[in-house]
Amino acid sequence: MKIVVTGSLGNISEPLAIRLLEKGHAVTVISSDPGRQTAIELVGAAAAIGSVDDPEFLAGAFAEADAVYAMVPPNGRAADQPAYYRRVGRNYARAIQHGVRRVVHLSNWGASLALQASNLPSNFSDTHAVEELLAELPGLALTHLRPTFFFTNYYWFSGMIREAGFLGTNCSGSRRVPFVHPRDIAAAAAQELTAADKCGRTVRYVASDERSFDEVVRVVGAALGRPDLRWVIFSDEQMRQRLLQSGLPGTMADDVVNLYRALGTGRLGEEYQRQHPALGEVKLEDFAQEFAATFQPI
Ligand SMILES: NC(=O)c1ccc[n+]([C@@H]2O[C@H](COP(=O)([O-])OP(=O)(O)OC[C@H]3O[C@@H](n4cnc5c(N)ncnc54)[C@H](OP(=O)(O)O)[C@@H]3O)[C@@H](O)[C@H]2O)c1
Repeated sequence: MKIVVTGSLGNISEPLAIRLLEKGHAVTVISSDPGRQTAIELVGAAAAIGSVDDPEFLAGAFAEADAVYAMVPPNGRAADQPAYYRRVGRNYARAIQHGVRRVVHLSNWGASLALQASNLPSNFSDTHAVEELLAELPGLALTHLRPTFFFTNYYWFSGMIREAGFLGTNCSGSRRVPFVHPRDIAAAAAQELTAADKCGRTVRYVASDERSFDEVVRVVGAALGRPDLRWVIFSDEQMRQRLLQSGLPGTMADDVVNLYRALGTGRLGEEYQRQHPALGEVKLEDFAQEFAATFQPI
């Protein structure tokens, strides 16, 4: 199959492209950075350099594709996040409708909460809007992958571990959370892109391991040689102030506060629990070793 992978050599897209190439598919990887061309070709894929925010480029890149992995890249510079998501979603829809028959869309485990009450991260409804735009396309085999909480989010906590000796958010340490590793998302995406019998619209939750934040600090602390590492609970306002001090814009800080609040109440996990998927292969202990291998103690 000819398969186009968006998301460059990102956390999910690199292992996805490698899996597809190993199975003999012809893979094109989209990157916005001309400097990535050589790295993409070195993994064995063709590179298409351009932006998913450019409808003409996207239509050209998808022209010959049998299948597409479509993700909306994070874009902290977009002042109007909902407008950005919807624009990229429309670009995808237009480019897909000229002949692509199978699409795996990277959604979010909060997408099903989009129609509920306020105080939820805005990207839940933004991702939900992209789901609905793609679902309007007739004759498409469409999978919305809804990954849970990325293990790789812990890289954002490196500074807190280094400088404060603890990890913390506005969510209790005893809350059990479904974590996911990008390699398990890549495995699920590869399966959905290449399965022989796909038609219609499918929603697939993806998770790797279910653990509490208290377990995370214990396992990560042991891997770092810091058994004293502990989980600290902040109030919503303390959390917000910390995020603002770290340079996050106000609306994004509100989103992160709302995300951990929804995690803490269990609200975020409700649909995931109903559709509970089989867990993937990468466990917290595996991630802790990866994290420790790149952690800079000073
Ligand atoms: N964090 C979580 O817990 C969580 C949970 C559920 C879902 N998600 C979703 O997961 C996604 C992130 O996936 P990931 O970690 O695999 O991505 P990633 O590692 O951040 O990679 C995305 C890549 O896309 C490329 N890119 C950026 N802007 C672009 C543009 N305008 N046009 C074309 N390419 C562009 C960039 O590479 P180049 O510089 O090479 O272009 C970037 O490295 C997010 O969209 C998020 O919504 C996250």
